[in-house]
Amino acid sequence: MEKKIIITIDGWSSCGKSTLAKQLARELGYVYIDSGAMYRAITLYFLRNHLDWTKHKAVEDALTKINLEFLSNHKNGQSEIYLNGENVEYVIRDLVVAEKVSEVAAIKEVRQFAVRQQQDMGQKKGIVMDGRDIGTVVFPDAELKIFMTADNAIRVERRFRELYEKNPNITIEEVKANLEMRDYIDSHREVSPLRQAEDALLLDNSRLTMREQLDIALKWVHERLKMA
Ligand code: DC
Repeated sequence: MEKKIIITIDGWSSCGKSTLAKQLARELGYVYIDSGAMYRAITLYFLRNHLDWTKHKAVEDALTKINLEFLSNHKNGQSEIYLNGENVEYVIRDLVVAEKVSEVAAIKEVRQFAVRQQQDMGQKKGIVMDGRDIGTVVFPDAELKIFMTADNAIRVERRFRELYEKNPNITIEEVKANLEMRDYIDSHREVSPLRQAEDALLLDNSRLTMREQLDIALKWVHERLKMA
């Protein structure tokens, strides 16, 4: 039987983790899981229900009512997230959610809830998962761990272009402030902060094309497959 591995991609906000993860999953015929989408969907649920997430009991109760699923879009084959049966893949990208998601993702109960499901999804291997703690906490034994980074100005520009398409009222300053705030909270929180795993390979894509970054990652995959 063909060998399959687990590939983790962690790194700062908006440095192209999901682009690379999707490319790799497509090339290798692996499942792609966007772990950030889970934290975003939970945040959306909390916001819609006006939840006071500083209260542990309220968070615990709310989590029992949340069902998250990734289903493939028949038109383009991409996996999309469903919150209690509703496709929320697009609404969770709103700045309204982005402004609160780091706060919600820092809550211990929320992380336990998400990590347990992420670990279940990796049981059969053949998975590419991107996030902040995938190589350090979710799959500490993953065969290939990538840590992505890119220059700040480039990241702001990329995210601005992406959000501007949906909302032309957005300003570059808003996007920059949101990225800086999320990076700060994500890397300073008490529970599983963003950090590069000791055995993760660093990929700085500031000056790489999408094809170049994919080729580098594929070379790493083939090296790891030989070792697996
Ligand atoms: O990857 P993203 O920008 O969609 O992630 C949204 C937020 O979720 C991010 O600011 C931090 C949090 N997150 C996390 O804490 N752990 C993960 N594994 C993935 C995302």
